[in-house]
Amino acid sequence: MNIISTRHMKRSFIEEVLERTKKMDPVAESKKQLDILEGKILATLFFEPSTRTNLSFTTAMKMLGGTVIGFDNPRTSSVKKGETLADTIRVVQSYANAIVMRHPNEGAAALAAEFTNIPIINAGDGSNQHPTQALLDLYTILKEKHKIDGLEITLAGDLKYGRTIHSLAYALGKFDVSIVFASPPALRIQRWIINDLKSAGISVKETDNIETTSDVLYLTRIQKERFPDIEEYQKVASAYVLNEESLKKIGKETMIMHPLPRVNEITPEIDHDKRAKYFVQSSYGIPTRMAILSMVMGD
Ligand code: NCD
Repeated sequence: MNIISTRHMKRSFIEEVLERTKKMDPVAESKKQLDILEGKILATLFFEPSTRTNLSFTTAMKMLGGTVIGFDNPRTSSVKKGETLADTIRVVQSYANAIVMRHPNEGAAALAAEFTNIPIINAGDGSNQHPTQALLDLYTILKEKHKIDGLEITLAGDLKYGRTIHSLAYALGKFDVSIVFASPPALRIQRWIINDLKSAGISVKETDNIETTSDVLYLTRIQKERFPDIEEYQKVASAYVLNEESLKKIGKETMIMHPLPRVNEITPEIDHDKRAKYFVQSSYGIPTRMAILSMVMGD
């Protein structure tokens, strides 16, 4: 089983992940180790920087009793010598039971899956997809709002290059939700994603304003590293800032989410607000990834 994208993920699969995550949640909180994946090895191949995703996969694997190998800096691996992705994958498959991979190229995870029979988990492929983030985002919504169906969710910030947005939009599209896309005009979401969601019966709106009373406001970082031209980045770098002042215009019950890292789009002064849930959200990365690893590698 591979986890490459949320685009064609079935609602029943997502629900199974959420159900398992709920079971893993108290285990993650108590930091007690299980033995479900004892004797199994996970390879984490990070061709791009990561803090949360890498550490939470590693923690999740160890909490399930497994072992982790891998690299988080391609400059110190043979990639630097010009090894192809295909060769790296062919070699690593004989060392590990599954691979978690982050890569700057869109489609890299799907490509890797063509060269191996061991499970590939996409931890981000360029600006395309980041499916395990979307699953932990859904778990956060379910846990904090007690449901997903019936909610209105505003996805804001860099909708063009943000892979967390693309994954979450498609994952939400399996539920009965309304989605509002809020971005500067230059960073609007791709037309085909809007079309896919509309064909799935989702109510979709677009705006350039983040003042919202939606049930959830999901903010994202402007993805500086994806801009072909730094001047284009500078024009939109401070498009949205959620601070004490702008927070007054957000709904009283609107949950504020962010995949992190944040740069300047949420000021630390609002961290104490009861609506701010981004640190709780990142903590759900552990039980969600425990659930995913147990489904992918468990017996
Ligand atoms: C995100 C990513 O890598 O896409 N980070 C994460 O995994 N939480 C978001 C980002 O980098 O902006």
